[in-house]
Amino acid sequence: MLKGKHIILGICGGIAAYKSAYLLRLLIKAGAEVQVVITPAGKEFITPVTLSALSGKPVISEFFTANTGSWNSHVDLGLWADAMVIAPATASTIGKMANGVADNMLVTTYLSAKAPVFVAPAMDLDMFAHPSTQRNLQLLRQYGNHIIEPASGELASHLVGKGRMEEPENIVKVLEEYFAASQSLACKRIMVTAGPTYEKIDPVRYIGNYSSGKMGYAIAEECASRGAEVVIISGPVSLKAENQSIKVVDVESAQEMYDASVKEFPRCDAAIMCAAVADYCVENQSSHKIKREHDELPVIRLKKNPDIAASLGTMKSDRQVLAGFALETDNEDANAVEKLHRKHLDFIVLNSLNEPGAGFKTDTNKVTIIDNTGNRRVYDLKSKRLVAKDIVDVLIEKMP
Ligand code: PMT
Repeated sequence: MLKGKHIILGICGGIAAYKSAYLLRLLIKAGAEVQVVITPAGKEFITPVTLSALSGKPVISEFFTANTGSWNSHVDLGLWADAMVIAPATASTIGKMANGVADNMLVTTYLSAKAPVFVAPAMDLDMFAHPSTQRNLQLLRQYGNHIIEPASGELASHLVGKGRMEEPENIVKVLEEYFAASQSLACKRIMVTAGPTYEKIDPVRYIGNYSSGKMGYAIAEECASRGAEVVIISGPVSLKAENQSIKVVDVESAQEMYDASVKEFPRCDAAIMCAAVADYCVENQSSHKIKREHDELPVIRLKKNPDIAASLGTMKSDRQVLAGFALETDNEDANAVEKLHRKHLDFIVLNSLNEPGAGFKTDTNKVTIIDNTGNRRVYDLKSKRLVAKDIVDVLIEKMP
């Protein structure tokens, strides 16, 4: 799994830096190409000579090489990497990463990295347990970084507790599992609907809703990061897909979203219907701006929009998986189950506007996934990025 992978190994100043040499050796043995980036404090614990001998590359520590004036580009490094592993990660570097304090090559490279970042903390037990360290680690999790939890045991201080850097073999295992998972949707084509729909009243007004597209785009990114070919049928949002391979079809109304979805779905292995689609559109749309000078109040007559998820549910073949969302304010569970069956979904993701931090616009969500066999999984409040991971895990289970 690691053969040919470009890995940045970030090393900070802590006793566990001696284990980084072994980690580096294991990565090289597994076929990875490794570039070591070390903090100034890291060099106090392990020498660049050892690390460059093991990696076969000069170790990067400074922004400039003093005698030649040549410049180390953290941006190029960030683009080169398939993964960045920071092991050991000290409390200080974790704090800088969490808060964007880019005062050394390691943190600037971290901030430029497009690839997944794995952080293996190592420090004394009280430093690890301190609310400041825990808050910073939580921020890194929210940024989508993978925290490789430290183990418990005897520490450099001879105290016993949680803070020992995870063993190099286990760090390599985490990377191998990550790269294996990143191929789990290879050769699959997945459609995601995202964002709101706008239903025109006249040339300047519309009926819409508060969907930002964050949840749908996070799902699309997660599918793409696992190797899928992804198409987003997107209502009007201000987001851009980060993964360049994602195709975005922009639509405005529910009818346009329906037309695009029905066209794409037959070529897809799965569809996740996350858009907040308007159930009604305006039957008596005005081709001119409705003026307020008239004495009579305008009458807006509504008609039903097509139900996109339900239509795909009737088209769906045995090789396709169809997932929907239920956004509820009351009778949450019963309404979600009713939608699951009526729309012939394989599973439904229930989110409730009664839960703080869930639903529209927030960066977090709290969901329950109910499948067509009656299985229920209740998840904690977490970032939409992490919710997307949970949803895609269930999707993969359901793929034939
Ligand atoms: O975009 P964000 O700000 O991140 O917010 C995320 C979200 C709250 C929009 C998302 O998590 C969510 O709940 N999306 C579904 C919202 C919704 O319309 O739910 P619903 O219960 O009304 O619809 C049930 C399902 O049918 C959904 O999968 C919906 O996409 C689909 N549907 C609904 C109506 C319709 N005409 N066609 C559809 O396909």
